[in-house]
Amino acid sequence: MPRPLLLQLLLGLLWRCAAASASQQPPPAASAESRCFCQVTGYLDDCTCDVETLDAFNNYKVFPRLQTLLESDYFRYYKVNLKKSCPFWNVNSHCGIRDCAVQPCQSDEVPDGIRSASYKYSEEANASAKDCEEAERLGAVDESLSEETVEAVRQWTRHDDSADSFCEVDDIQSPEAEYVDLLLNPERYTGYKGPDAWKIWNSIYEENCFKPHSVQRPLNPLATGRGENEGNLFYSWLEGLCVEKRAFYKLISGLHSSINIHLSARYLLQDTWSKKQWGHNVTEFQQRFDEVLTQGEGPRRLKNLYFIFLIELRALSKVLPFFERPDFQLFTGNKERDGEIKSLLLEILHLTKSFPLHFDENSFFVGKQREAAKLKEEFRLHFRNISRIMDCVGCIKCRLWGKLQTQGLGTALKILFSESQIENMPERGPSPTFHLTRQEIVSLFNAFGRISTSIKELDNFRNFLQTLP
Ligand SMILES: *[C@@H]1O[C@H](CO)[C@@H](O)[C@H](O)[C@H]1NC(C)=O
Ligand SMILES: *[C@@H]1O[C@H](CO)[C@@H](O)[C@H](O)[C@H]1NC(C)=O
Ligand SMILES: *[C@@H]1O[C@H](CO)[C@@H](O)[C@H](O)[C@H]1NC(C)=O
Repeated sequence: MPRPLLLQLLLGLLWRCAAASASQQPPPAASAESRCFCQVTGYLDDCTCDVETLDAFNNYKVFPRLQTLLESDYFRYYKVNLKKSCPFWNVNSHCGIRDCAVQPCQSDEVPDGIRSASYKYSEEANASAKDCEEAERLGAVDESLSEETVEAVRQWTRHDDSADSFCEVDDIQSPEAEYVDLLLNPERYTGYKGPDAWKIWNSIYEENCFKPHSVQRPLNPLATGRGENEGNLFYSWLEGLCVEKRAFYKLISGLHSSINIHLSARYLLQDTWSKKQWGHNVTEFQQRFDEVLTQGEGPRRLKNLYFIFLIELRALSKVLPFFERPDFQLFTGNKERDGEIKSLLLEILHLTKSFPLHFDENSFFVGKQREAAKLKEEFRLHFRNISRIMDCVGCIKCRLWGKLQTQGLGTALKILFSESQIENMPERGPSPTFHLTRQEIVSLFNAFGRISTSIKELDNFRNFLQTLP
């Protein structure tokens, strides 16, 4: 009987976490560097690997390859609807902030192979899409289509809006959905902050992390009567939660950390009419991660970054069979280039698989299928809600990257929760049960690219901080 892997995985991780934190006293306030990094050195409680090994694995192996991958046509164009209205409240527009603007692509910038609506994950499917157009034009049924192909296309379409999705999926066919070139619209500091930005993160934490409303998140500037003890109250509440719900919180916190690292690393340092310059702002980084300035929360946030990295890494290593199928193509229309990019993609996936993650997956939740299914559903609904909140982000560029990263994380969760379907995937031919859309694929790898970049950036900040007292 297949046991839900993610559950065991999370239980394994958190069990270790509990064991490790019991024996770990916070180090005394020390150098600027250790005030941020005290919890991310040596052995991580999230896996039996140490931070140094993980950093080296990411910074020298995964990161450079991912950068090349994400610069390819297939991965740089993301189709997204940035004009959806916020389902929860009225949004203050931040169109006034220049750096929030997103330049959508002119239609001739995007390769034909990507723009065409039909599926081209396989030559067969491509042929069938063409044949369909042809057949429609001639008003005749094309006999040359194999039944298998028809079935594959039908299944793919159906599974795109299946109940497995962790995100509220944009209607890609909507005229409001546009292609965005991610390389031309990098995630960086935009000036979007203050109450509006806080409202977004508050909704995510306060209303969506399985959390009773009475418990305030520490250091929430919107919370009234913030006191010394509130942080402790929050963490004792967190300890009392069941492990999966804590894992959910850690994922969201890891994502939040990652976004803040990007904004600190690409801060708008100089803004004059003649010159704009983005770069590292160590003060900004410290305000978000320094142990003293954040009343102890900062180092925990960084630890959660490693947690989300390990979860997404695990998802990638699990989804390899889907991409390894010979009929899977990263179709842009340039056959030679598409082949190269697919090889690179597989190389990265094999790399993720080679990373020695030693989880003790055997001793938890054995035989509790029903609870697991219920939990998956809860996870899914909460996560979907978070993806809808992204339509409430007032700064359009932040909305773009928020949507992309939540969709990517949602795709990782979908993979982990569908593990048995992937394991049973036939080598050839259509898989009846597991499928990823182009949007999911693009967001999955770009989201992982963002986390990978954050871990790499930590190295830079560590070096900057070493020069401070
Ligand atoms: C898919 O169809 C397009 C034209 O519609 C063609 O240019 C391309 O070569 C086809 N790709 C494959 C893999 O058959
Ligand atoms: C979804 O989020 C909104 C806005 O934060 C909230 O009002 C609503 O209760 C949430 N629903 C669920 C199911 O979490
Ligand atoms: C760095 O960020 C801080 C806020 O954390 C800000 O006050 C400061 O002006 C920034 N430095 C530069 C050079 O922009």
